[in-house]
This record gives sequence, structure tokens and C-alpha cells, in this order.
Amino acid sequence: MKEKTKMIRLSEEHIPEAWYNVLPDLPVPLAPPLHPVTREPITPDDLAPLFPMGLIMQEVSQEGYIEIPDEVREIYKLWRPTSLVRALRLEEYLKTPARIYFKNEGESPAGSHKPNTAVAQAYYNKKEGVKRLTTETGAGQWGSALSMGCNYFDLELQVFMVRSSYAQKPYRRVLMETWGGKVNPSPSEATEFGKKVLAEDPDTPGSLGIAISEAVEMAVQGDDVKYSLGSVLNHVLLHQTVIGMEAKKAFEMFDDYPDMVIGCVGGGSNYGGTALPFVKEKVDGSDIRLIAVEPTSCPTLTGGRYEYDYGDTAGMAPIVLMYTLGHDFVPPPSHAGGLRYHGDSPIISLLVKEGLMEAVAYHQVEVFEAAMVFAQTEGFVPAPETAHAIKAVIDEAVKCRESGESKCIFFNFSGHGMLDLSAYDDFHSGKLSDV
Ligand SMILES: Cc1ncc(COP(=O)(O)O)c(C=O)c1O
Repeated sequence: MKEKTKMIRLSEEHIPEAWYNVLPDLPVPLAPPLHPVTREPITPDDLAPLFPMGLIMQEVSQEGYIEIPDEVREIYKLWRPTSLVRALRLEEYLKTPARIYFKNEGESPAGSHKPNTAVAQAYYNKKEGVKRLTTETGAGQWGSALSMGCNYFDLELQVFMVRSSYAQKPYRRVLMETWGGKVNPSPSEATEFGKKVLAEDPDTPGSLGIAISEAVEMAVQGDDVKYSLGSVLNHVLLHQTVIGMEAKKAFEMFDDYPDMVIGCVGGGSNYGGTALPFVKEKVDGSDIRLIAVEPTSCPTLTGGRYEYDYGDTAGMAPIVLMYTLGHDFVPPPSHAGGLRYHGDSPIISLLVKEGLMEAVAYHQVEVFEAAMVFAQTEGFVPAPETAHAIKAVIDEAVKCRESGESKCIFFNFSGHGMLDLSAYDDFHSGKLSDV
């Protein structure tokens, strides 16, 4: 039997020197974000109370590549480049002729792709004299990543963690606190908006939209405080493009190339980071398939409307053109807390709208069944969010088995599930249901 390569680990010098900016390569320009009060196109000055100018400029940049500062690359070296792994055991289990590969972003200290932007955002805030950041987190992956980033740049951090996840994932809070972050369950008594939501519904599970409103409210109250968002925005997807760029390099070494690029989508950052470096060729006519995967309980791309909507529940964040379920939609609690967002990245939304990207949705139980297959073949226990991508991968690989086609399927393993074991426990004991 000819031995097959299982894994490519690039070396440090392959960490990209610049992030890839998809904006100049989009088939049509992005619609401008609007001011939440005036509904006029927003200016950099309007955004200045929330973000440092370095990030605001990246948000609108038309440069094809944006240099990664040395300070950020140095910290990336703690875990980057991440491995590109051929899922040979999964292929064998599925008896598929497909070649399946995954990029293991679960190798980061926080356990997901989120530090790729957390470190960059902490850096730009520090550079402009910011002392404290506020943010929201769903399942706690983003909050932990930003805690880690703030730790390296000596910034304080206040995290608003969606209440249902706060109860489900206590160890994520401990991880955030270990890196120095302060965590409030959201809605909280720490903000006027949080108090209002609690007064109306003391038992609310919370949502990312509510948590964003609280973090924004706290950020606009001080001069040296700013807000940080872990997904959705252009600059966040930009920072994540190290995933797709490293993958392309590693594919050269495998002497292979994807026919499909798959990833789960909450706000669109891990999937954007994975798929955007393949968009130019798609626009130019390649038949590579870009497939975004979401939960049926929060079906933004597959069931939402493409329209201008607020990024948060209170209507304080900019209004953007995206697929949305409505900013007051509170998704039912599920174990994929990071996918419970009413909207989606404007870039991802535009690519779906233009037919360059496909979207599929899956139920929770079938997603955990896929996670079990993956854990028992490839060993790594996926985060519930990541397991959505795995479900789509398995479905595509099974189609290949039926058609006899040997396609190359690439997906992003956005995070490990070692702090999501209570969800697996619910699955094992039959307590998990579709929501
Ligand atoms: C492991 C993991 N994957 C995916 C996501 C979804 O976010 P995004 O769509 O921004 O990648 C999250 C969000 O918390 C996550 O923790």
C-alpha cells in the first residue's frame, strides 16, 4: 500500500505577511453601512467612539493585501501555522472516494480560530492608547480569545456572555478569567439595556444581539474604552484570512486542491477566513463550490431576508445590508451558542446573494451524530459549531460515494469541543433535541 500523507505542518516563515482583503475582488461593491440614528452612510468619525482608527480604515480599505504587524505575527507564532490534515480515517469509515482535508484552528491556545482577530484587534487598540475593551460572547470562544489577546497587550476586558451559554459552559468563564477578562452574564444589571431586557423577561436566555448592545453601551461611555466584535465586520474576516492562505500553501505540498470549501457560519468570520482567499477564482469562473453551514434553529442565510438591519438588538450598532432574521429575533438556546446570531457578515451575505456561495442548514441532533463520527475516526472532539461543517462534509462525501466521484473536500475545523463536553453528555444521555 502506498503511504498517504496525513498532515502538513508549515513552518513559521509560512505565516502570511499580509492579510488578504476581498473587498476589491467582490463582484459588486458592498452597500455602505448606515448610522443607526440618522440612517445616513456612516463615516469613519461616526465609528471612532467604538473602534480604533486602524481597524476602521481596514473596514473600508480597497488595498488587496494589508500587512500584518510584526507584533501580531510574533504572537501568531504561539500556534500558527495550524496543521492541514487529511481525514484519512474519516474517508475510510465513509467508504468514500472523496479526499477530505481540514485546517485545525482548534490548535490555538483558546481552542478556536478566534485569536487570529483577537490578537490583531488588541494590538490596534493598544497602539491608539485604549485601556479597556468591551465585548460580547456566545459560547465563550470569542471572549476567551479576546481575553488572551488583551492579556498580551495589557488591556482590561469586560465580556458580556450570553446567559444560556454562561450557564451551560462554566469553564469558558474560568478560561476568560484566567487570562484576566471580567465576565457578566447577559442580559446583566451592568447596563441600562440589560436591566430593561431583564425587567421585561427575567428568564430570557439572552442572545448575541442583546450582549452586543450591552457591550456597545458600556464602550461609548468612556474615552479610553472601546468595543471589539469577534465576527461579522470586514476587518474581522480580513484577519481570519490567514486560515485560507496557509491552507492554499499546504495544499501545494499535498499536491492537491479543493473542489469544495466548507465551514460553519455564525457571523461569518471563520468561514470568511477560510473561503475568501478562494473567491477571486470563483468570480473568474472556477467551479469550486463554497458552502456555508448554519443551524436550522438560527437559519440566517437559508431563511433570512436580505435587507438593511441593525447589528444588535437595541439598535445602537450600525445598520448593514445582510441576511437577517430581524434584530429582535432571539434564537432558541442550542449547544452551538456561537451560531446564534440574527444576522451575518455583509461580505458573506453578498456572496450568497450573488450566487457565488451556497448555504445549507442542519438540525442539532444530526450535527452531533456527525461530531461523534468525526471524534471516533479523527480523534479530535469538535466544538458544536464546527460539527455543523462536519455534517455537511459527511453529506458531500457520501454523495461522492454514491456517484463514484473523487472530489477534494476542504473544511475549517474552527474549534475543539473540550469545553463543550456537557453538550456531548446531553447527547449521550438522549437529552439533546432539535430546537
Ligand atoms: C468554534 C467556533 N466556530 C464557529 C463560530 C462561529 O463564528 P464565526 O461565524 O464568526 O466563525 C464560533 C463562534 O463563537 C465558534 O466558537
